[in-house]
Amino acid sequence: MLKKKEILFSKEEIDNAVENIARKVSEEYSGGELLIVGVLKGAFIFMSDLIRKVHGVDIIVDFVILRSYGSSTTSSGEVEVVKDLHGPVEGRDILVVEDIVDTGVTLKFFKDQLLRRGPKSVKICALLDKRARREVEIDVDYVGLLMDDGFVVGYGLDCDENYRNLPEIWVLEEEE
Ligand code: IMP
Repeated sequence: MLKKKEILFSKEEIDNAVENIARKVSEEYSGGELLIVGVLKGAFIFMSDLIRKVHGVDIIVDFVILRSYGSSTTSSGEVEVVKDLHGPVEGRDILVVEDIVDTGVTLKFFKDQLLRRGPKSVKICALLDKRARREVEIDVDYVGLLMDDGFVVGYGLDCDENYRNLPEIWVLEEEE
């Protein structure tokens, strides 16, 4: 198991970032109904914090599990829906909640899938954005924190299923 090296984002920085996104979402969808779709497993902590900070919006939650093929620290371009949404999408305002956008392949695949099902709108929110690594074009409507390259864990993010429970976001030691 790769060792953790140092904290990249503290609890306070994460909390502020989540608060900022929640404020914008509350403004944008004020008085309406929003289907929030969490991409499991990585987004589960971020999503649970986010939805408790959104006010004045009726929220419904649903979850998907997407698998992108690759090694434990990279994705390759092939995406599979392992668990699909439980409820209907047609005519709804949807906000997809993702832990981190890296190449963008996973979210582009999923957004295109959702758009084919006739929603009223689809927006994307990600806690972390490794923008410099983007390989496909995808608009991320709400971004929490920008970061450079490097593999991070904690606050829901894992490395081979480890470290999801860390309250901060950590950088791992490089593989030797
Ligand atoms: P993308 O399709 O390349 O944008 O990859 C997105 C997915 O890769 C995320 O949902 C994560 O599951 C995973 N991922 C990318 N970078 C990291 C990282 O630094 N730590 C943990 N998971 C990551």
